[in-house]
Amino acid sequence: MNENPPLLMKIAVTGANSSVGQNLLAHVAESTDVEAVAGVRSQRGVDSLPVSPRVDARIISYDDVADLAEALQGASVVVHLAGILIENKTTKYASANVAVTAAVVQAAQMASVQHIVLVSVLGASPDSRNRFLRSKGEAERHVTESGMSSTIIRTPILLGPDTAGADSLVRTATHGKAKLLGDGSYDMRPLDIDDLNQAILNACRTRPEGSTTHELVGPESIPYRELVMRFADMMGTEIAVGTIPLWIAKLGATVSSRLKGGGITPTVIDVITASEVVSTNADADLGISLTPLSTTLEKIVSNRK
Ligand SMILES: NC(=O)c1ccc[n+]([C@@H]2O[C@H](COP(=O)([O-])OP(=O)(O)OC[C@H]3O[C@@H](n4cnc5c(N)ncnc54)[C@H](OP(=O)(O)O)[C@@H]3O)[C@@H](O)[C@H]2O)c1
Repeated sequence: MNENPPLLMKIAVTGANSSVGQNLLAHVAESTDVEAVAGVRSQRGVDSLPVSPRVDARIISYDDVADLAEALQGASVVVHLAGILIENKTTKYASANVAVTAAVVQAAQMASVQHIVLVSVLGASPDSRNRFLRSKGEAERHVTESGMSSTIIRTPILLGPDTAGADSLVRTATHGKAKLLGDGSYDMRPLDIDDLNQAILNACRTRPEGSTTHELVGPESIPYRELVMRFADMMGTEIAVGTIPLWIAKLGATVSSRLKGGGITPTVIDVITASEVVSTNADADLGISLTPLSTTLEKIVSNRK
């Protein structure tokens, strides 16, 4: 007797070539109940994706909502990942974080997608004085005011092989003389990228009524300075930890970002040196068990060997 094949839930992922997206698609490839349309902006993006019969890579444009809606057809959930922390000459928060989210929401509605999952950031608010956090808050508002079922997951620094956070940690901890912004005393709650993607997939499987916003952080709070020293120890590197006063770092960032038309700005420095604090961690609500920080750091070390 022939057994029926398992029913597959189809999700669509924007910014699929991001570090979160690539890891999410690796989870999709291993799952038994999910398939994904992976939206990227270029052939280079396509080439960077995991290859799997469950992953259908599509080149999309956020400027053409009808075309975007076409790519989302048949998906029950859109996982919106495209977004930036660091602006450059051509890509600004208003376009990459706000306008792109508005386009994705509009396209999802045109394609009758039922649920949108947005990865946002701790501190996002349309009223924030920080331009980045404000843009993420405005992105959240496009989602919450769409009337669609939505799950917003605000996250801290993400760690895992190939995340920007891990790259920066490796650079700092292997440099010999680590220069930390400020005194490095700000508290981090690093979240394992695998945990985030388990949470995203669980959210995709359970469509909420209305809009829900979660704050999901890792299990351990650790000052950045200690994180760097602990990681250097695991890498077997000796480092001397020095500091750069914040006002000097911001002055330098103001000058260099004006010359380059982007890069590290005082806005970015304020984001990365803010303590990551939440009142309620959403791990239980999102049905995941948090990976211990030491295990996450081990994964990064092994990936570098
Ligand atoms: N990494 C973290 O620690 C962290 C923490 C909190 C929240 N988040 C959020 O999680 C999401 C994924 O982060 P990530 O670090 O994995 O991202 P990432 O690796 O830096 O990738 C950024 C993605 O955004 C796309 N993108 C950039 N500019 C765009 C534009 N103007 N229009 C459309 N797409 C654009 C990129 O596409 P191209 O390659 O085509 O440029 C790429 O797919 C982002 O929304 C980010 O804000 C990340």
